[in-house]
Amino acid sequence: MDIFEKIEHDHKKQRELMNGILNENTSVSERQQLFDEFRVEFRAHAAAEEESFYAPMLENSETTDQSRHSVAEHHDAIELLEELEKLNVSDEEWLSTFKKLADENEHHMEEEESSVFDAVRKEMKDTEIENMLGVFEDRKSQELEHA
Ligand SMILES: [Fe+2]
Ligand SMILES: [Fe+2]
Repeated sequence: MDIFEKIEHDHKKQRELMNGILNENTSVSERQQLFDEFRVEFRAHAAAEEESFYAPMLENSETTDQSRHSVAEHHDAIELLEELEKLNVSDEEWLSTFKKLADENEHHMEEEESSVFDAVRKEMKDTEIENMLGVFEDRKSQELEHA
């Protein structure tokens, strides 16, 4: 597995959780449980991406702008997560806010899987790319341990 496959694998998990949360047959308690899993997974994934992927991209002038753009999207998503954590899962507002987060996150993940991956493959050295997976995995397990 390389860093690109690892990120895609995590995105698949996020998509499954988002679909489960938004499915109209999901009960409130199940929705709460899936959201608890999603928010931990999302934060750990974003932190691991920022350390392994977006930090080296920031150092390379060809990928600086893309890195800043994606990290800003992480911050926006985390603000929405914080709003959701203050609301009650059974409220209408909770569901409309989660729908907004899910739509924005889908756009974010598609962009990572296309233009961000392309930029990294084009601009970064193979050795730099090889180094990313270990950094990603270490940071993600640390985050999950302290979640
Ligand atoms: Fe991301
Ligand atoms: Fe991602």
